[in-house]
Order: sequence, then structure tokens, then C-alpha cells
Amino acid sequence: MTATAERPTVAPGRVVWFTGLSGAGKSTLASALYAELQTRGVAVELLDGDAVRENLSKGLGFTKADRDTNVRRIGFVAGLLAKHGVTVLVSAISPYADTRREVLGAFDSALEVFVDAPLEVVTERDVKGLYLKAIAGEIPHFTGVSDPYERPESPDLHLRTDHITVEDGVRQLLDRLGA
Ligand code: PPS
Repeated sequence: MTATAERPTVAPGRVVWFTGLSGAGKSTLASALYAELQTRGVAVELLDGDAVRENLSKGLGFTKADRDTNVRRIGFVAGLLAKHGVTVLVSAISPYADTRREVLGAFDSALEVFVDAPLEVVTERDVKGLYLKAIAGEIPHFTGVSDPYERPESPDLHLRTDHITVEDGVRQLLDRLGA
């Protein structure tokens, strides 16, 4: 890249961490932001909960210990990427406030994005058909049903996905990133 005008305005190496219930819209927002940043020439990577669990965290379950291990692994990889100037978008339930604080606290300027929709709404959406099973007791430790979700107390951005569109969310994220 040569001309200053072509340089992305997003500060390099930012970590944007999307936390929230399953079905709240974390992956949708992270993917949409990913696409937008790519078109702007920003070096960006997406660490998505489902993909991470199929690879980096294969074999881990959903106890607190396993979730914490998962979140710390994601944080570790995000750190490696961010160190090289990559903007890292993380999409993971990451339900425990202490672990989020620990992992996000390791970065200079990570953004905690609370992707929020009420339990009734995500249960109604039931995008993956998991809530019905969880309520029936077929999935143990299911976040929001039989396992805790500790809401962020002061997130950098709080997106109510039952009130805003994906485009609105991406616009707010870009604003927050200074893009
Ligand atoms: S965590 O808590 O951050 O380690 O979870 P994460 O890695 O994001 O994985 C969440 C996805 O796993 C599916 N799934 C479950 N979620 C919550 N609780 C239980 N017990 C569970 N079992 C499977 C679910 O599809 C989550 O995906 P998302 O994208 O959040 O809907």
C-alpha cells in the first residue's frame, strides 16, 4: 500500500470480542463486520466459537473449566494475530465475567461488544434448534437455560439485536472502531 489515502483508518491490531447468548447474533454481526473491513483493505481475522470448537478446542465441553479453557485459547490466538497488526473479531458466548475480564484485560484496547437479545427472543428464534432441546433437558449446561450467562456490566458497545438491524450494528461497530 502506498498512498496514505488508501490506508485503512481502523487502528491495527484491535481485538473486538462479541459475547452473548447462543442465537443473539454474535456470528452474524462479526461476519458482517468482517466483510465490511475486508472491503476496506483492513487485515482482519474472525475467530468464531463453532469453528474454534471444531479445531483449536476440539473435545472441550461446556463446564466452566472447559469454557474458560476455550476462551483463554481464543484469547491467546487473538493476541498472536493482533501482535502482527491483524484486527481480530472473536465470536464466543464467553459467559463468565471474570474470564472475559482476564482475557480482554491482556489487550491494550480490546472492545467488549455485548450482543444482547432477551432469552425469550433467542428461544423463539432457536436458529439451531438447541433451545428446544435444552429446555427438554436433552443438552446439559446450556447457556441461559441450565448454565449461567453473566451479562457484561459496562461493555464498550451494547447491541440489542431485537431492536436494531445488522446494518445498524455494523455502523455502530465501525463508529466505535473509528472507521
Ligand atoms: S463458550 O461458552 O464461549 O465456550 O461457547 P462457544 O465456544 O461460543 O460455543 C457456543 C456454541 O456451541 C453450541 N453449544 C452450546 N452453547 C451453549 N451451551 C451449550 N451447552 C452448548 N452446546 C453446544 C452452540 O451452537 C453455540 O453457538 P452459538 O454461535 O453461540 O449459537
